[in-house]
Amino acid sequence: MAEESYQTVVVGLTEHILPLVPDLIRKLKKGIKVLDIGCGMGKAVNTMAKSFPNSTFYGYDLSSQAIEVAKKEATAMGNPNTVFQVQDILNLTFNDKFDLITAFDAIHDQPKPGEVLRNIYKSLNNGGIFLMQDIHASTPKRQY
Ligand SMILES: C[S@@+](CC[C@H](N)C(=O)[O-])C[C@H]1O[C@@H](n2cnc3c(N)ncnc32)[C@H](O)[C@@H]1O
Repeated sequence: MAEESYQTVVVGLTEHILPLVPDLIRKLKKGIKVLDIGCGMGKAVNTMAKSFPNSTFYGYDLSSQAIEVAKKEATAMGNPNTVFQVQDILNLTFNDKFDLITAFDAIHDQPKPGEVLRNIYKSLNNGGIFLMQDIHASTPKRQY
């Protein structure tokens, strides 16, 4: 997954995807607090952290193996502005608030996407931004 999303997300992240949000590059250069949910092996987080050293980047994922890889890569890349945690995004506590939350290919995996999106909303600072990239999908009419 990390290899695939490297080609579809990470390669175009700083030049094409982040500039889609007005004023976001200026804010990232100045320094904001960012969370990537379902960060996997942290390729997007580590890429952003390298490009924007004044901002702090958190990566949350359920998978402890993925988080270990992300931490190792952060060390190898010299990214002190990263925090990777094993965390279920269904159980966010809202103690931490963020200026930008990103979700790359992570919402469609959720059994309760509505709850996750509500959690994301509650975890944003005033004026915070949610940037999401995902597959074009819809919920079947079945009840779960
Ligand atoms: C399709 S992968 C995308 C990973 C990464 N964003 C990327 O683009 O390479 C979805 C990721 O979301 C994580 N994930 C799924 N449900 C989660 C949850 N409830 N809390 C945290 N992470 C979750 C999975 O472990 C997986 O790493």
